[in-house]
Amino acid sequence: MVHEVKGAVVRSKNAPVTLETILVPDPGPGEALVDILTCGVCHTDLHYKQGAINDDFPFLLGHEATGVVSAVGPGVTQVAPGDRVVLNWRAVCGECRACRRGEPQYCFNTHNATQKMTLADGTELTAALGIGAFAEKTLVAAGQCTKVDPDADPAAIGLLGCGVMAGIGAAINTGNVQRGDSVAVIGCGGVGVAAVAGAALAGATTVIAVDIDAKKLERAKELGATHTVDSSSADPVEAIRELTGGFGADVVIDAVGRPETYKQAFYARDLAGTVVLVGVPSPEMTLELPLLDVFGRGGSLKSSWYGDCLPSRDFPMLIDLYRQGRLDLDAFVTERITIDQIEEAFEKMHSGSVLRSVVEL
Ligand SMILES: NC(=O)c1ccc[n+]([C@@H]2O[C@H](COP(=O)([O-])OP(=O)(O)OC[C@H]3O[C@@H](n4cnc5c(N)ncnc54)[C@H](O)[C@@H]3O)[C@@H](O)[C@H]2O)c1
Ligand SMILES: [Zn+2]
Ligand SMILES: [Zn+2]
Repeated sequence: MVHEVKGAVVRSKNAPVTLETILVPDPGPGEALVDILTCGVCHTDLHYKQGAINDDFPFLLGHEATGVVSAVGPGVTQVAPGDRVVLNWRAVCGECRACRRGEPQYCFNTHNATQKMTLADGTELTAALGIGAFAEKTLVAAGQCTKVDPDADPAAIGLLGCGVMAGIGAAINTGNVQRGDSVAVIGCGGVGVAAVAGAALAGATTVIAVDIDAKKLERAKELGATHTVDSSSADPVEAIRELTGGFGADVVIDAVGRPETYKQAFYARDLAGTVVLVGVPSPEMTLELPLLDVFGRGGSLKSSWYGDCLPSRDFPMLIDLYRQGRLDLDAFVTERITIDQIEEAFEKMHSGSVLRSVVEL
């Protein structure tokens, strides 16, 4: 059977998001059909719309979602109809060279549904990050479903599906932040503020939030920043050095992903420190750095794909911390909107007042 539902689609580069009838097939082997409850609006959806990820239009947007499994295909054992799940874009294969060497968080061959969802005329859709959850139903690989506590607020825990996990994981997994570390986070949107929260969770004693928008810095303070730097008026490298005894931070996380913010992160880091790039650059961007500085400053320059998370390990752990009041996921949900308000939510990303708009379906 094919299910006809409404979904939010971008047909071509920079075209407005339109609500379209989409056709979602019943799950085949290894697949799960999920009724979406909530889906956050992530900056990566905007990157898709702008053609900055790839040109495989039309896209079915949305990838930070909580839902309920409504059907599973043959051979699926890890989830069953009725299960509350958070969707992930890292269904590890278990067989690639990363998985085989015991590092499934880097899996190079993650699974998505094999069957395609389509527009009513049969045009195949590309689901954002293999999820496509700005829709009443979506089809994913069963491994993209992480079973979670059905009592937790779906809007809050769904954000673990991308941005909040990417940010927390950039600090605790990729950056390996330790008790007593100093950490600076450049860019305090949903991802960056999550990195601030992750650094605080890991026990960093100095957590410096940097943004060009003062309102974002207020949020960062609520989620664990000990200091803030408004880089629209102050030099962030100088400011971070000043706040760390003149040396720079042990870990600096770039949650913007532009050459200028990466350079700030690079020079705001102490000798032998770590830079983590979690913001996603666009294809035309290039970086120039004196190679002697790359050598002379030591340490490591890392990129963080999805916070180097393992959904099956990290989602339930973070939901436990949320339920215990130790991780304020509610603070990330700035507003709850309907599926026809996604364009407005993209606009609000630039307005400074919103960490996450969450679509309720
Ligand atoms: N690596 C991953 O797995 C992963 C996952 C999700 C999102 N992302 C990426 O992370 C980035 C952030 O996503 P988001 O959803 O938090 O976006 P967002 O738009 O909510 O936040 C971006 C923040 O950066 C700030 N900013 C912009 N330019 C700046 C500058 N020059 N200096 C300091 N701050 C600046 C903005 O004011 C805003 O607060 C995006 O590039 C997104 O694609 C990466
Ligand atoms: Zn793998
Ligand atoms: Zn995302």
